[in-house]
Amino acid sequence: MTKRRDFLKQSSLLSFGTLSAYATPALAKELLHFLPHATLFELPPLGYAYDSLEPFIDAQTMQIHHTKHHQAYVTKLNEAVAKDPALHHQSLEQLIRNSNSFPEASRAAIRNHGGGHWNHSFFWTLLQKGTQPGKVTTLAINNTFGSMEQFKVAFEKAALGLFGSGWTWLMKDASGKLTIISTPNQDNPLMDIAPQKGTPIIGIDVWEHAYYLKYQNKRADYVQAFWNVLNWNKVEEFMQK
Ligand SMILES: [Fe+2]
Repeated sequence: MTKRRDFLKQSSLLSFGTLSAYATPALAKELLHFLPHATLFELPPLGYAYDSLEPFIDAQTMQIHHTKHHQAYVTKLNEAVAKDPALHHQSLEQLIRNSNSFPEASRAAIRNHGGGHWNHSFFWTLLQKGTQPGKVTTLAINNTFGSMEQFKVAFEKAALGLFGSGWTWLMKDASGKLTIISTPNQDNPLMDIAPQKGTPIIGIDVWEHAYYLKYQNKRADYVQAFWNVLNWNKVEEFMQK
């Protein structure tokens, strides 16, 4: 009996410890009731060091952005999942692509926190210094925008013109056409609620938390610096999908 009690105690602690990686301790305790009936989301590792984008994006910004801002979207999304059984067993893409088909009480959380989780997970994969545009990317951008320089000018203009917080995207629409768009807050063009839909190829986070420590109010400097850390190898991969 003692052994069984010890085992149960250890199992409980193990589950609680595992859950604590995904949520606040109080929430993790609450979420135990739903296991194994809910899919919980997890902060993905960057896959590179926080200082590897210096001097264009500083280490402190990367660390806070990843461990505080992105983690907050994951935690709040998990809170929403815990509250609503309709959200159990859904992938992140299923949630954001079909947000209107979920209960109304959960839609804002899917849009804001699900969007925040998807957008940041995508953004981290797009960052690496020292890469060059690939052949498919160069051809597609030249055909659509005239030249790489003209594309950059148009993209920067969209990022600077976005009022408040949001994202600017290069996306491919259903017909395969490349388009630059901006979305407010944590929206993205995959969402069913997006007025212009498509598949993101490039995305830049233009929330102040992405650049304020180093660039303060100079969003233009941050957007120009972005070209030095854009992982063109990933862009080439997304362009070919
Ligand atoms: Fe962000």
